[in-house]
Amino acid sequence: MSKVKAAVFASGTGSNFETIMKCDDLACEVVLLICDKPGARVIEKASRCNVQTFVLNPKSFDSKEAYEQEILRMLQAAEIEWIFLAGYMRIVGKTLLEAYEGKIVNIHPSLLPAFPGKDAIGQAYRAGAAVTGVTVHFIDEGVDTGPIIAQEQIDVLPDDTEETLKARIQKVEHVLYPAVINQLLSTTD
Ligand code: GAR
Repeated sequence: MSKVKAAVFASGTGSNFETIMKCDDLACEVVLLICDKPGARVIEKASRCNVQTFVLNPKSFDSKEAYEQEILRMLQAAEIEWIFLAGYMRIVGKTLLEAYEGKIVNIHPSLLPAFPGKDAIGQAYRAGAAVTGVTVHFIDEGVDTGPIIAQEQIDVLPDDTEETLKARIQKVEHVLYPAVINQLLSTTD
């Protein structure tokens, strides 16, 4: 039986994209990468994995709706059923939320609702948090809001630098995200 098709949206380095792609028993097939940052490192990773990639600059569209309508056309042409945000640093608008209700998932490097938005790891570090973590959640129209699916807590160690903390957080992300994707796909139509 063929697997359901998924797209990953990413803006940056693509380490989460890469671990999703390397997961041997992933319950879906990632056939599309949508990237909103020309030159982002995730693009070369997708090319190495032979994943069809569209790089769109939102500034070259008249509106967010026009930008997302173009993405929607690409998703529909590729018969995408699920969208996984992996470092996509943009708020998803109504056009995609309505078309993919309950089918757009995000990973965020904090224990939401703490430290939403950009630089969550730096925010937690600078705030002197004793614990932080990783959250996987469905998205809504807010910034890193929406129903939480899974969370994992990570202690901030006394000798942590922001870099060591980031490395531990990303290590957890790379295990948690594929596992949650598989769990979701096994329990959702
Ligand atoms: C990840 O840590 C992800 O949780 C975070 O961006 C990073 C992307 O890394 N996402 C957010 O902050 C979303 N608000 P990657 O490009 O190496 O996967």
